[in-house]
Amino acid sequence: MGIEVVVEGLTKSFGGQSVWRDVTLTLPAGEVSVMLGPSGTGKTVFLKSLIGLLKPERGRVLINGVDMVNSPEREIYETRKLFGLMFQDGALFGSMSLFDNIAFPLREHTRKKESEIRRVVMERIEVVGLLGAEGKLPGEISGGMRKRAGLARALVLDPQIILCDEPDSGLDPVRTAYLSQLLIDLNAQIDATMLIVTHNLDIAATVPDNMGMLFRRELVTFGPREVLLTSEEPVVAQFLDGRREGPIGMSEEKDAATLAAEADAGAVPAPPRRIVPQLEPSPGLPPRAAVTRRRQRVMGMIDSLPPAARSAIRETYASHAAAPTLTVPSAGSGT
Ligand SMILES: Nc1ncnc2c1ncn2[C@@H]1O[C@H](COP(=O)(O)OP(=O)(O)OP(=O)(O)O)[C@@H](O)[C@H]1O
Ligand SMILES: [Mg+2]
Repeated sequence: MGIEVVVEGLTKSFGGQSVWRDVTLTLPAGEVSVMLGPSGTGKTVFLKSLIGLLKPERGRVLINGVDMVNSPEREIYETRKLFGLMFQDGALFGSMSLFDNIAFPLREHTRKKESEIRRVVMERIEVVGLLGAEGKLPGEISGGMRKRAGLARALVLDPQIILCDEPDSGLDPVRTAYLSQLLIDLNAQIDATMLIVTHNLDIAATVPDNMGMLFRRELVTFGPREVLLTSEEPVVAQFLDGRREGPIGMSEEKDAATLAAEADAGAVPAPPRRIVPQLEPSPGLPPRAAVTRRRQRVMGMIDSLPPAARSAIRETYASHAAAPTLTVPSAGSGT
């Protein structure tokens, strides 16, 4: 059963330059959340702060009463064992077979016998679809297989909180679709709390219960997926529509003059955005335990949400079985 992660007023900087300020959000127990954000906005720094590998100057990260920022190092170390972390670059040891890579956390953190380690590792290898490749070195397999090996390694300690840093980078669209399904299936099987950092709009649209976005050193928004998917916040709309027009520039955020020039030029309106149904677990798997909890939670807060999100949520839940596709009005109307 997943564990809630409560982030309060988190602020992190390097050498006087802040990465983000005052980030407050809750990852609800057992739900899947996605964090979006242009390159360099501090998504990886955020994940590392959650597990206590980086130390924000202000704020708290509460997990089972332990503060991953300020509690004694010993408590942080113990709590870190609840996490499974899939790194952005796979972070496999090049000289070790996939089997040994995936077995590494078990050998490092547990006193399991080799026969038990073998059983757990092979189970995880099967889950991520790598049976037969366990003897290969990371250099002998494709990037997508390395990603899945990284995920298998994140799973061996039965994590209750899973963090995935750009699990899709370097994957083709078909593999990305399989990965999306794999993430939902995992959630159905172990009910872990999951946070996925991604740039991939298909994953963002189909996988999470909740979504947030980092931009300009702040958390722009975090909440039920429908809030972000119907948002007219310029930066959110630009990101979701994958457009050049908007506050996000090539290497940095755009300055006011560039934005004004764009406005004068009258950008073409973005096509209407569609909310597609969230993925369901594969046939034969149990339903996701988080679904009922999430429904209660979201219906409890619905009156505080923007109108577009409210109607999207009502529509989703009203015709849940019918898996509706609904259309929301376009955000970018050439302003
Ligand atoms: N250990 C560090 N020391 C100093 N600066 C750092 C360190 N780690 C990250 N940064 C800086 O913090 C900022 C955010 O980096 P981060 O890697 O979190 O971005 P990101 O959102 O994950 O980007 P991407 O999408 O490209 O992976 C960057 O400006 C980066 O240079
Ligand atoms: Mg990153």
